[in-house]
Amino acid sequence: MKLTCRKQRRTMCAQYCISFADVEKAHINIRDFVHLTPVLTSSILNQVAGRNLFFKCELFQKTGSFKVRGALNAIRGLIPAPSGKPKAVVTHSSGNHGQALAYAAKLEGIPAYIVVPQTAPNCKKLAIQAYGASIVYSEQSDESRENVTKRIMEETEGIMVHPNQEPAVMAGQGTIAMEVLNQVPLVDALVVPVGGGGMVAGIAITVKVRKPPLEDSPLQA
Ligand SMILES: Cc1ncc(COP(=O)(O)O)c(C=O)c1O
Repeated sequence: MKLTCRKQRRTMCAQYCISFADVEKAHINIRDFVHLTPVLTSSILNQVAGRNLFFKCELFQKTGSFKVRGALNAIRGLIPAPSGKPKAVVTHSSGNHGQALAYAAKLEGIPAYIVVPQTAPNCKKLAIQAYGASIVYSEQSDESRENVTKRIMEETEGIMVHPNQEPAVMAGQGTIAMEVLNQVPLVDALVVPVGGGGMVAGIAITVKVRKPPLEDSPLQA
């Protein structure tokens, strides 16, 4: 049984699409462009939980969320191409990743097109536009979002930067864990919200290498 498990684990390792080295590279790529966000504590919440809690406050990150880490790493990874800058970058997002990609693309002078469902909050749409990106509306369904994204990629010859499946995005999100492990070296568990899974992928690979016994507990966002 043990042997089978080990074998399975080795097979899974071979399928990982990012490594800790990718997260380390991402850290170097983006560190001059993002905030080192604070880790805050609350004595009242510690009492309620019966343990010491530490909150990595990515709400104070540039563009208001951790998403800028992955977007910047992806964009900066596209820049050194000998063929020059991409003509455009494209993504679909109802908010945080759209704002992050818009910001990162503006820093590098690349046009960004963000496919947004009509129903997305106005404040998110306004922020995407304020960072200089173009909004393209889709219906709410996955099918409409994918069709519109494909069309925009064809029309602009743009490169897709997926919100959570793009390896450079996962590696960028992993830099959160690198910071947490420096800021709170004795931390013994991380609780990570999960949507599409990009953030937890980067964080999991980082704690696996940097702090192997650490528990990594994804929570569905
Ligand atoms: C604030 C916030 N937390 C967590 C998540 C989940 O991240 P992921 O999709 O990488 O799992 C998102 C995704 O949009 C988010 O915006």
